[in-house]
Amino acid sequence: MPRLSVNLNKVALIRNSRGANYPDLVRVATDCEGFGAEGITIHPRPDQRHARYDDVFALRESVTTELNIEGYPTEKFLSVVLEAKPEQVTLVPDEPGQLTSDHGWDTVGRAEELRSIVGKLKDAGIRTSLFIDPVADLLEGALAVGTDRIEFYTGPYAQSFDEDPERAVASFAKASRYAAELGLGINAGHDLNLHNLSYFVGALPDLQEVSIGHALVTDSLYHGLSNTIQLYLQKIAEGSRR
Ligand code: PXP
Repeated sequence: MPRLSVNLNKVALIRNSRGANYPDLVRVATDCEGFGAEGITIHPRPDQRHARYDDVFALRESVTTELNIEGYPTEKFLSVVLEAKPEQVTLVPDEPGQLTSDHGWDTVGRAEELRSIVGKLKDAGIRTSLFIDPVADLLEGALAVGTDRIEFYTGPYAQSFDEDPERAVASFAKASRYAAELGLGINAGHDLNLHNLSYFVGALPDLQEVSIGHALVTDSLYHGLSNTIQLYLQKIAEGSRR
């Protein structure tokens, strides 16, 4: 079954809005793990408007499941992750001021740069994942630069899910089969929620991890964090049985 990694950026955003350490990200991460989350993700951006670089070190001390750090590989980002050594680093091709991730890497055009960065991370014992769109050439490019895994950018799936779920998932299911054939590990994330998650999981039997933040934190306002994590785990289980 795919693991649920909870992305805590939106919790950090609430904390930052008041200046004090409340809510405390470490405490929330520990509670998420206690409630059943199988990983914790943060995405420190250069402006540190939600998760910050010092959160990476604090979470490294406390997370006992798996810590996944996402981000654009600036010098600062790389120095932080190489020192903190999370279990996984997901490289994302965001421009520094971008509101949220909205596309994957050009693994062919930027192969040289990616090969060098992936190599440094792997030498440090960190599993690597590249955020990408579900396209065969890009998967081949990902394999060629040496990454362990890819993370499918699922925004377009979520956007067209209501219109036609089968069509929305088709390119991801096909790319996932190909990624598995190539021997790449498969993660997914962005805009996954209680409504579209189980269908996605059911269509990608090789999926290893989903990272979910915005919808999960929003659902927690209604159901509480503990119940919400249970609901997401149930959706993953339901999808896996399909
Ligand atoms: N994966 C990546 C690379 C992301 O940038 C984000 C958002 O920070 C997510 C997954 C999670 O997306 P969402 O917050 O929509 O669940």
